[in-house]
Amino acid sequence: MPGTLILGAQWGDEGKGKITDMLAAEADVVARYQGGDNAGHTVVVGGQTFRLHLVPSGILYPQVLCLLGNGMVINPRRLLAEIDELAGRGMDVSPSRLKISGQAHLIMPYHPVLDSASETSLGAGKIGTTGRGIGPAYTDKAARQGVRVQDMLRDDFRAHVRAAVQQKNIVLERLYGQPPLDAEAIAEEFAGHAERIRSYIADVSKLLDDAYRAGKRLLYEGAQGTLLDIDYGTYPYVTSSSPSAGGALTGLGIGPNRIDRIIAVAKAYQTRVGAGPFPTELCDLVGDMMVERGHEYGTTTGRRRRTGWLDLVTLRYAARVNGLQEIALTKLDVLSGLNQIKACVAYHWRGRELQDFPTDAEILAECQPVYVESDGWEEEISQVRTWEEMPEEAQAYVKLIEETVGLPVTMISVGPEREQIVRK
Ligand code: IMP
Repeated sequence: MPGTLILGAQWGDEGKGKITDMLAAEADVVARYQGGDNAGHTVVVGGQTFRLHLVPSGILYPQVLCLLGNGMVINPRRLLAEIDELAGRGMDVSPSRLKISGQAHLIMPYHPVLDSASETSLGAGKIGTTGRGIGPAYTDKAARQGVRVQDMLRDDFRAHVRAAVQQKNIVLERLYGQPPLDAEAIAEEFAGHAERIRSYIADVSKLLDDAYRAGKRLLYEGAQGTLLDIDYGTYPYVTSSSPSAGGALTGLGIGPNRIDRIIAVAKAYQTRVGAGPFPTELCDLVGDMMVERGHEYGTTTGRRRRTGWLDLVTLRYAARVNGLQEIALTKLDVLSGLNQIKACVAYHWRGRELQDFPTDAEILAECQPVYVESDGWEEEISQVRTWEEMPEEAQAYVKLIEETVGLPVTMISVGPEREQIVRK
Protein backbone atom coordinates (compact mmCIF):
# COMPACT_ATOMS: atom_id res chain seq x y z
CA MET A 1 0.00 0.00 0.00
CA PRO A 2 -0.85 2.89 -0.63
CA GLY A 3 -1.49 1.34 -4.07
CA THR A 4 -1.19 -2.46 -4.22
CA LEU A 5 -2.09 -4.45 -7.30
CA ILE A 6 -2.91 -8.10 -6.92
CA LEU A 7 -3.35 -10.26 -10.00
CA GLY A 8 -3.23 -13.84 -11.23
CA ALA A 9 -0.01 -15.16 -12.76
CA GLN A 10 -1.48 -18.29 -14.35
CA TRP A 11 -4.79 -19.32 -15.99
CA GLY A 12 -6.96 -17.95 -13.20
CA ASP A 13 -8.12 -19.75 -10.05
CA GLU A 14 -4.80 -19.03 -8.31
CA GLY A 15 -6.47 -18.20 -5.01
CA LYS A 16 -6.58 -14.43 -5.49
CA GLY A 17 -9.76 -14.20 -3.40
CA LYS A 18 -8.01 -15.44 -0.30
CA ILE A 19 -4.90 -13.27 -0.71
CA THR A 20 -7.03 -10.20 -1.50
CA ASP A 21 -9.12 -10.95 1.56
CA MET A 22 -5.97 -11.06 3.70
CA LEU A 23 -4.60 -7.80 2.33
CA ALA A 24 -8.01 -6.15 2.51
CA ALA A 25 -7.71 -6.27 6.30
CA GLU A 26 -5.20 -3.43 5.93
CA ALA A 27 -6.95 -1.59 3.08
CA ASP A 28 -9.46 1.25 2.87
CA VAL A 29 -10.53 0.65 -0.72
CA VAL A 30 -10.65 -2.53 -2.84
CA ALA A 31 -11.30 -2.02 -6.56
CA ARG A 32 -11.88 -4.64 -9.26
CA TYR A 33 -10.78 -3.66 -12.73
CA GLN A 34 -11.87 -6.22 -15.35
CA GLY A 35 -13.97 -9.28 -16.14
CA GLY A 36 -17.40 -10.03 -14.84
CA ASP A 37 -19.19 -12.90 -13.21
CA ASN A 38 -16.97 -15.38 -15.04
CA ALA A 39 -14.76 -14.89 -11.96
CA GLY A 40 -15.36 -16.80 -8.79
CA HIS A 41 -13.47 -15.80 -5.68
CA THR A 42 -13.81 -18.07 -2.70
CA VAL A 43 -13.13 -16.72 0.77
CA VAL A 44 -13.49 -18.81 3.92
CA VAL A 45 -13.95 -16.90 7.15
CA GLY A 46 -14.63 -18.63 10.46
CA GLY A 47 -15.87 -21.74 8.67
CA GLN A 48 -18.27 -19.68 6.51
CA THR A 49 -17.64 -19.83 2.77
CA PHE A 50 -18.30 -16.82 0.58
CA ARG A 51 -18.30 -17.25 -3.21
CA LEU A 52 -18.06 -13.88 -4.85
CA HIS A 53 -18.35 -13.30 -8.56
CA LEU A 54 -18.61 -9.54 -8.89
CA VAL A 55 -18.38 -7.83 -5.52
CA PRO A 56 -14.74 -7.49 -4.34
CA SER A 57 -13.92 -9.71 -1.38
CA GLY A 58 -13.07 -6.56 0.61
CA ILE A 59 -16.81 -6.32 1.33
CA LEU A 60 -16.23 -8.72 4.23
CA TYR A 61 -14.39 -5.94 6.13
CA PRO A 62 -16.64 -3.14 7.36
CA GLN A 63 -14.00 -0.39 6.83
CA VAL A 64 -13.46 -1.20 3.16
CA LEU A 65 -15.07 0.71 0.29
CA CYS A 66 -15.56 -1.64 -2.68
CA LEU A 67 -15.42 -0.39 -6.24
CA LEU A 68 -16.33 -2.02 -9.55
CA GLY A 69 -14.25 -0.37 -12.26
CA ASN A 70 -15.09 0.74 -15.79
CA GLY A 71 -13.08 -2.18 -17.23
CA MET A 72 -15.66 -4.64 -15.94
CA VAL A 73 -18.74 -6.09 -17.63
CA ILE A 74 -21.60 -6.37 -15.17
CA ASN A 75 -24.64 -8.59 -15.30
CA PRO A 76 -27.20 -6.67 -13.21
CA ARG A 77 -29.22 -9.79 -12.40
CA ARG A 78 -26.20 -11.47 -10.93
CA LEU A 79 -24.94 -8.36 -9.19
CA LEU A 80 -28.27 -7.83 -7.44
CA ALA A 81 -28.48 -11.52 -6.51
CA GLU A 82 -25.00 -11.29 -4.99
CA ILE A 83 -25.84 -8.10 -3.11
CA ASP A 84 -29.01 -9.75 -1.76
CA GLU A 85 -27.13 -12.87 -0.71
CA LEU A 86 -24.45 -10.90 1.10
CA ALA A 87 -27.06 -8.69 2.77
CA GLY A 88 -28.96 -11.82 3.82
CA ARG A 89 -25.79 -13.02 5.55
CA GLY A 90 -25.52 -9.81 7.54
CA MET A 91 -23.08 -7.83 5.37
CA ASP A 92 -23.53 -4.13 4.75
CA VAL A 93 -23.74 -3.89 0.95
CA SER A 94 -25.32 -0.45 0.85
CA PRO A 95 -24.30 2.19 -1.71
CA SER A 96 -22.06 3.77 0.93
CA ARG A 97 -19.85 0.65 0.77
CA LEU A 98 -20.15 -0.39 -2.87
CA LYS A 99 -19.81 1.82 -5.95
CA ILE A 100 -20.07 0.88 -9.59
CA SER A 101 -18.45 2.76 -12.43
CA GLY A 102 -21.00 4.32 -14.76
CA GLN A 103 -18.59 3.56 -17.61
CA ALA A 104 -18.62 -0.19 -17.02
CA HIS A 105 -20.65 -2.16 -19.55
CA LEU A 106 -23.75 -4.19 -18.84
CA ILE A 107 -24.05 -7.85 -19.70
CA MET A 108 -27.43 -8.00 -21.38
CA PRO A 109 -29.60 -11.15 -21.59
CA TYR A 110 -28.55 -11.65 -25.21
CA HIS A 111 -24.86 -11.85 -24.35
CA PRO A 112 -24.92 -15.33 -22.72
CA VAL A 113 -27.13 -16.54 -25.60
CA LEU A 114 -24.60 -15.24 -28.12
CA ASP A 115 -21.76 -16.74 -26.05
CA SER A 116 -23.20 -20.24 -26.22
CA ALA A 117 -24.29 -19.86 -29.86
CA SER A 118 -20.73 -18.85 -30.77
CA GLU A 119 -19.27 -21.78 -28.80
CA THR A 120 -21.64 -24.21 -30.55
CA SER A 121 -20.67 -22.85 -33.95
CA LEU A 122 -16.96 -23.34 -33.14
CA GLY A 123 -17.59 -27.07 -32.53
CA ALA A 124 -14.39 -28.89 -31.57
CA GLY A 125 -12.48 -25.60 -31.69
CA LYS A 126 -14.55 -24.03 -28.94
CA ILE A 127 -12.89 -21.97 -26.24
CA GLY A 128 -14.70 -23.47 -23.30
CA THR A 129 -15.98 -20.16 -21.99
CA THR A 130 -17.88 -19.84 -18.75
CA GLY A 131 -21.00 -19.07 -20.81
CA ARG A 132 -21.60 -15.82 -18.95
CA GLY A 133 -21.65 -13.63 -22.05
CA ILE A 134 -18.28 -12.05 -21.33
CA GLY A 135 -16.88 -12.17 -24.88
CA PRO A 136 -20.03 -10.81 -26.56
CA ALA A 137 -20.29 -7.98 -23.99
CA TYR A 138 -16.68 -6.88 -24.64
CA THR A 139 -17.30 -7.30 -28.38
CA ASP A 140 -20.18 -4.83 -28.15
CA LYS A 141 -18.03 -2.47 -26.08
CA ALA A 142 -15.31 -2.44 -28.75
CA ALA A 143 -17.90 -2.15 -31.51
CA ARG A 144 -19.41 0.85 -29.69
CA GLN A 145 -22.74 -0.90 -29.38
CA GLY A 146 -22.67 -1.60 -25.67
CA VAL A 147 -25.12 -0.57 -22.97
CA ARG A 148 -23.29 1.09 -20.09
CA VAL A 149 -24.12 1.17 -16.42
CA GLN A 150 -24.69 4.92 -16.55
CA ASP A 151 -27.32 4.42 -19.24
CA MET A 152 -29.47 3.29 -16.32
CA LEU A 153 -29.68 6.94 -15.30
CA ARG A 154 -31.28 7.94 -18.61
CA ASP A 155 -34.97 8.78 -18.75
CA ASP A 156 -35.28 6.68 -21.89
CA PHE A 157 -33.40 3.65 -20.50
CA ARG A 158 -36.36 1.35 -21.05
CA ALA A 159 -36.59 2.32 -24.74
CA HIS A 160 -32.81 2.10 -25.05
CA VAL A 161 -32.86 -1.52 -23.79
CA ARG A 162 -35.79 -2.41 -26.01
CA ALA A 163 -33.94 -1.08 -29.08
CA ALA A 164 -30.73 -2.93 -28.14
CA VAL A 165 -32.59 -6.24 -27.78
CA GLN A 166 -34.43 -5.74 -31.05
CA GLN A 167 -31.12 -5.06 -32.79
CA LYS A 168 -29.53 -8.21 -31.37
CA ASN A 169 -32.58 -10.30 -32.22
CA ILE A 170 -31.66 -9.81 -35.87
CA VAL A 171 -28.25 -11.41 -35.22
CA LEU A 172 -29.73 -14.17 -33.08
CA GLU A 173 -32.32 -15.11 -35.67
CA ARG A 174 -30.43 -14.60 -38.92
CA LEU A 175 -26.93 -15.69 -37.93
CA TYR A 176 -27.56 -18.32 -35.31
CA GLY A 177 -31.14 -19.42 -36.07
CA GLN A 178 -32.13 -18.73 -32.47
CA PRO A 179 -35.58 -17.57 -31.33
CA PRO A 180 -35.78 -13.83 -30.65
CA LEU A 181 -35.73 -12.55 -27.07
CA ASP A 182 -38.74 -10.71 -25.65
CA ALA A 183 -37.59 -7.10 -25.94
CA GLU A 184 -40.51 -5.70 -23.98
CA ALA A 185 -40.07 -8.08 -21.04
CA ILE A 186 -36.33 -7.40 -20.87
CA ALA A 187 -36.88 -3.63 -21.04
CA GLU A 188 -39.34 -3.94 -18.16
CA GLU A 189 -36.97 -6.11 -16.10
CA PHE A 190 -34.01 -3.82 -16.70
CA ALA A 191 -36.00 -0.73 -15.75
CA GLY A 192 -36.46 -2.46 -12.38
CA HIS A 193 -32.73 -3.22 -12.09
CA ALA A 194 -31.97 0.41 -12.91
CA GLU A 195 -34.11 1.53 -9.98
CA ARG A 196 -32.01 -0.53 -7.59
CA ILE A 197 -28.58 0.03 -9.16
CA ARG A 198 -28.90 3.80 -9.68
CA SER A 199 -27.71 4.72 -6.22
CA TYR A 200 -24.55 2.62 -6.60
CA ILE A 201 -23.35 4.41 -9.74
CA ALA A 202 -20.29 6.62 -9.33
CA ASP A 203 -17.17 7.97 -11.03
CA VAL A 204 -14.75 5.32 -9.80
CA SER A 205 -11.65 6.99 -11.24
CA LYS A 206 -12.48 10.14 -9.28
CA LEU A 207 -13.19 8.20 -6.10
CA LEU A 208 -9.81 6.50 -6.38
CA ASP A 209 -8.05 9.79 -6.96
CA ASP A 210 -9.75 11.35 -3.94
CA ALA A 211 -8.89 8.34 -1.81
CA TYR A 212 -5.26 8.38 -2.92
CA ARG A 213 -4.91 12.08 -2.19
CA ALA A 214 -6.43 11.53 1.25
CA GLY A 215 -3.69 8.98 1.99
CA LYS A 216 -5.99 5.95 1.91
CA ARG A 217 -4.66 2.46 1.28
CA LEU A 218 -5.81 1.12 -2.08
CA LEU A 219 -5.96 -2.47 -3.26
CA TYR A 220 -6.59 -3.18 -6.97
CA GLU A 221 -7.96 -6.66 -7.56
CA GLY A 222 -7.61 -8.60 -10.82
CA ALA A 223 -9.76 -11.51 -11.91
CA GLN A 224 -8.76 -14.46 -14.15
CA GLY A 225 -5.01 -14.49 -14.85
CA THR A 226 -2.16 -13.31 -17.08
CA LEU A 227 -2.32 -16.38 -19.34
CA LEU A 228 -6.00 -15.63 -20.06
CA ASP A 229 -5.26 -12.00 -20.97
CA ILE A 230 -6.67 -10.93 -24.35
CA ASP A 231 -3.21 -9.65 -25.40
CA TYR A 232 -0.73 -11.74 -23.44
CA GLY A 233 -2.63 -14.97 -22.97
CA THR A 234 -2.81 -18.11 -25.06
CA TYR A 235 -4.96 -16.46 -27.73
CA PRO A 236 -7.62 -17.37 -28.81
CA TYR A 237 -8.03 -19.50 -25.67
CA VAL A 238 -8.33 -16.45 -23.46
CA THR A 239 -10.94 -14.25 -21.87
CA SER A 240 -11.88 -10.94 -23.50
CA SER A 241 -10.41 -8.54 -20.95
CA SER A 242 -6.98 -7.55 -19.59
CA PRO A 243 -6.29 -9.28 -16.27
CA SER A 244 -2.63 -8.21 -16.53
CA ALA A 245 -1.22 -5.09 -14.86
CA GLY A 246 -2.04 -2.75 -17.76
CA GLY A 247 -5.72 -3.61 -17.36
CA ALA A 248 -5.71 -2.11 -13.87
CA LEU A 249 -4.84 1.30 -15.31
CA THR A 250 -7.41 1.37 -18.10
CA GLY A 251 -9.98 -0.54 -16.06
CA LEU A 252 -9.95 1.92 -13.17
CA GLY A 253 -8.85 5.24 -14.63
CA ILE A 254 -5.62 5.51 -12.65
CA GLY A 255 -2.07 6.32 -13.74
CA PRO A 256 0.90 3.93 -13.32
CA ASN A 257 2.28 6.07 -10.49
CA ARG A 258 -0.74 5.04 -8.39
CA ILE A 259 0.59 1.49 -8.14
CA ASP A 260 3.61 0.91 -5.96
CA ARG A 261 3.39 -2.78 -5.16
CA ILE A 262 2.57 -5.55 -7.65
CA ILE A 263 1.87 -8.99 -6.26
CA ALA A 264 1.09 -12.02 -8.38
CA VAL A 265 -0.79 -14.92 -6.94
CA ALA A 266 0.45 -18.26 -8.24
CA LYS A 267 -0.65 -21.74 -7.32
CA ALA A 268 2.07 -24.22 -6.29
CA TYR A 269 1.03 -26.31 -9.30
CA GLN A 270 -0.74 -25.39 -12.51
CA THR A 271 -4.44 -25.52 -13.41
CA ARG A 272 -6.58 -24.46 -16.34
CA VAL A 273 -10.31 -24.61 -17.12
CA GLY A 274 -11.55 -24.71 -20.68
CA ALA A 275 -9.58 -25.45 -23.83
CA GLY A 276 -6.08 -24.37 -24.87
CA PRO A 277 -2.45 -25.51 -24.62
CA PHE A 278 -1.07 -26.60 -21.25
CA PRO A 279 2.46 -28.06 -21.56
CA THR A 280 2.76 -29.47 -18.02
CA GLU A 281 -0.71 -31.03 -17.91
CA LEU A 282 -0.92 -34.35 -16.05
CA CYS A 283 -3.51 -36.86 -17.17
CA ASP A 284 -2.57 -39.40 -14.51
CA LEU A 285 -3.02 -40.23 -10.85
CA VAL A 286 -0.92 -37.28 -9.69
CA GLY A 287 -3.17 -34.95 -11.71
CA ASP A 288 -6.24 -36.61 -10.17
CA MET A 289 -4.73 -36.21 -6.72
CA MET A 290 -4.28 -32.47 -7.36
CA VAL A 291 -7.94 -32.21 -8.42
CA GLU A 292 -9.20 -34.03 -5.33
CA ARG A 293 -6.87 -32.58 -2.69
CA GLY A 294 -7.02 -29.12 -4.21
CA HIS A 295 -10.81 -29.22 -4.85
CA GLU A 296 -10.09 -28.18 -8.40
CA TYR A 297 -13.61 -27.58 -9.59
CA GLY A 298 -14.66 -24.19 -10.98
CA THR A 299 -16.33 -21.80 -8.53
CA THR A 300 -18.49 -20.41 -11.32
CA THR A 301 -19.24 -23.40 -13.54
CA GLY A 302 -18.38 -26.40 -11.35
CA ARG A 303 -16.20 -27.75 -14.18
CA ARG A 304 -13.29 -30.02 -13.27
CA ARG A 305 -10.06 -28.12 -13.76
CA ARG A 306 -7.14 -29.54 -15.71
CA THR A 307 -4.06 -29.92 -13.49
CA GLY A 308 -0.30 -30.20 -13.94
CA TRP A 309 3.15 -29.41 -12.58
CA LEU A 310 4.10 -25.83 -11.90
CA ASP A 311 5.31 -24.08 -15.05
CA LEU A 312 8.03 -21.59 -14.16
CA VAL A 313 8.37 -20.45 -17.78
CA THR A 314 4.87 -19.00 -17.50
CA LEU A 315 5.74 -17.36 -14.18
CA ARG A 316 8.83 -15.70 -15.66
CA TYR A 317 6.60 -14.44 -18.48
CA ALA A 318 4.01 -13.14 -16.00
CA ALA A 319 6.82 -11.42 -14.09
CA ARG A 320 7.85 -9.61 -17.26
CA VAL A 321 4.50 -8.53 -18.70
CA ASN A 322 3.20 -7.37 -15.32
CA GLY A 323 6.37 -5.92 -13.81
CA LEU A 324 5.86 -8.20 -10.82
CA GLN A 325 7.66 -7.54 -7.57
CA GLU A 326 6.61 -10.53 -5.48
CA ILE A 327 4.70 -13.79 -5.51
CA ALA A 328 2.04 -15.09 -3.15
CA LEU A 329 2.20 -18.87 -3.51
CA THR A 330 -1.02 -20.74 -2.79
CA LYS A 331 -2.08 -24.33 -2.11
CA LEU A 332 1.40 -25.59 -1.23
CA ASP A 333 -0.32 -27.97 1.23
CA VAL A 334 -1.88 -29.85 -1.71
CA LEU A 335 1.57 -31.17 -2.70
CA SER A 336 2.23 -32.87 0.67
CA GLY A 337 2.74 -36.61 0.38
CA LEU A 338 4.36 -36.69 -3.05
CA ASN A 339 7.77 -38.41 -3.31
CA GLN A 340 8.98 -36.23 -6.13
CA ILE A 341 7.83 -32.83 -7.32
CA LYS A 342 8.55 -31.49 -10.78
CA ALA A 343 8.72 -27.90 -11.98
CA CYS A 344 9.06 -26.87 -15.60
CA VAL A 345 12.01 -24.52 -16.23
CA ALA A 346 12.14 -24.45 -20.07
CA TYR A 347 10.46 -26.01 -23.11
CA HIS A 348 11.69 -28.31 -25.86
CA TRP A 349 10.28 -27.30 -29.21
CA ARG A 350 11.33 -28.85 -32.53
CA GLY A 351 14.81 -29.71 -31.28
CA ARG A 352 15.39 -26.36 -29.60
CA GLU A 353 15.24 -25.33 -25.97
CA LEU A 354 13.01 -22.32 -25.32
CA GLN A 355 13.57 -20.24 -22.20
CA ASP A 356 10.81 -17.77 -23.03
CA PHE A 357 7.08 -18.32 -23.21
CA PRO A 358 6.11 -18.42 -26.90
CA THR A 359 3.61 -15.76 -27.94
CA ASP A 360 1.90 -18.20 -30.32
CA ALA A 361 -0.46 -20.71 -28.70
CA GLU A 362 0.16 -23.15 -31.56
CA ILE A 363 3.87 -23.25 -30.72
CA LEU A 364 3.04 -23.65 -27.04
CA ALA A 365 0.83 -26.62 -27.93
CA GLU A 366 3.90 -28.35 -29.43
CA CYS A 367 6.21 -27.60 -26.48
CA GLN A 368 7.48 -30.36 -24.21
CA PRO A 369 8.34 -29.33 -20.66
CA VAL A 370 11.93 -29.51 -19.37
CA TYR A 371 11.58 -30.45 -15.73
CA VAL A 372 13.69 -30.02 -12.62
CA GLU A 373 12.82 -32.66 -10.03
CA SER A 374 13.01 -32.14 -6.33
CA ASP A 375 12.21 -34.25 -3.27
CA GLY A 376 8.72 -34.02 -1.90
CA TRP A 377 7.70 -33.99 1.77
CA GLU A 378 5.44 -36.30 3.74
CA GLU A 379 4.17 -33.92 6.40
CA GLU A 380 0.81 -32.16 6.34
CA ILE A 381 1.66 -28.46 6.33
CA SER A 382 -1.77 -26.92 6.78
CA GLN A 383 -0.93 -26.14 10.43
CA VAL A 384 2.43 -24.54 9.61
CA ARG A 385 2.50 -20.79 10.28
CA THR A 386 6.20 -19.87 10.06
CA TRP A 387 8.87 -20.39 7.42
CA GLU A 388 11.10 -22.15 9.98
CA GLU A 389 8.44 -24.81 10.60
CA MET A 390 8.16 -25.58 6.89
CA PRO A 391 9.70 -28.97 5.91
CA GLU A 392 13.14 -28.56 4.35
CA GLU A 393 11.96 -30.00 1.02
CA ALA A 394 9.07 -27.51 0.86
CA GLN A 395 11.55 -24.70 1.57
CA ALA A 396 13.77 -25.99 -1.24
CA TYR A 397 10.79 -26.02 -3.64
CA VAL A 398 9.92 -22.42 -2.77
CA LYS A 399 13.57 -21.39 -3.21
CA LEU A 400 13.65 -23.07 -6.62
CA ILE A 401 10.66 -20.94 -7.63
CA GLU A 402 12.30 -17.78 -6.34
CA GLU A 403 15.59 -18.47 -8.10
CA THR A 404 14.06 -19.51 -11.41
CA VAL A 405 11.61 -16.63 -11.59
CA GLY A 406 13.88 -14.07 -9.97
CA LEU A 407 11.25 -12.84 -7.49
CA PRO A 408 10.69 -13.32 -3.77
CA VAL A 409 7.83 -15.49 -2.54
CA THR A 410 6.53 -13.33 0.29
CA MET A 411 3.43 -15.28 1.29
CA ILE A 412 2.64 -18.99 1.24
CA SER A 413 -0.91 -20.16 1.66
CA VAL A 414 -1.37 -23.61 3.23
CA GLY A 415 -5.17 -23.82 3.41
CA PRO A 416 -8.37 -21.94 2.65
CA GLU A 417 -8.78 -20.14 6.01
CA ARG A 418 -7.56 -16.58 6.53
CA GLU A 419 -4.98 -17.59 9.12
CA GLN A 420 -3.52 -20.44 7.05
CA ILE A 421 -0.70 -18.32 5.74
CA VAL A 422 3.07 -18.19 6.16
CA ARG A 423 4.66 -14.80 5.66
CA LYS A 424 8.27 -14.94 4.63
P1 IMP B 1 -14.91 -16.37 -20.68
O1 IMP B 1 -14.16 -15.45 -19.80
O2 IMP B 1 -16.17 -16.90 -20.06
O3 IMP B 1 -15.13 -15.82 -22.06
O4 IMP B 1 -14.01 -17.69 -20.90
C1 IMP B 1 -12.79 -17.67 -21.65
C2 IMP B 1 -11.75 -18.60 -21.02
O5 IMP B 1 -11.35 -18.07 -19.77
C3 IMP B 1 -12.24 -20.02 -20.74
O6 IMP B 1 -11.15 -20.90 -20.90
C4 IMP B 1 -12.64 -19.97 -19.28
O7 IMP B 1 -12.59 -21.23 -18.66
C5 IMP B 1 -11.58 -19.04 -18.74
N1 IMP B 1 -11.99 -18.32 -17.53
C6 IMP B 1 -12.81 -17.26 -17.46
N2 IMP B 1 -12.94 -16.84 -16.19
C7 IMP B 1 -12.17 -17.65 -15.45
C8 IMP B 1 -11.85 -17.69 -14.07
O8 IMP B 1 -12.31 -16.88 -13.25
N3 IMP B 1 -11.00 -18.69 -13.68
C9 IMP B 1 -10.46 -19.55 -14.57
N4 IMP B 1 -10.71 -19.54 -15.87
C10 IMP B 1 -11.55 -18.59 -16.31
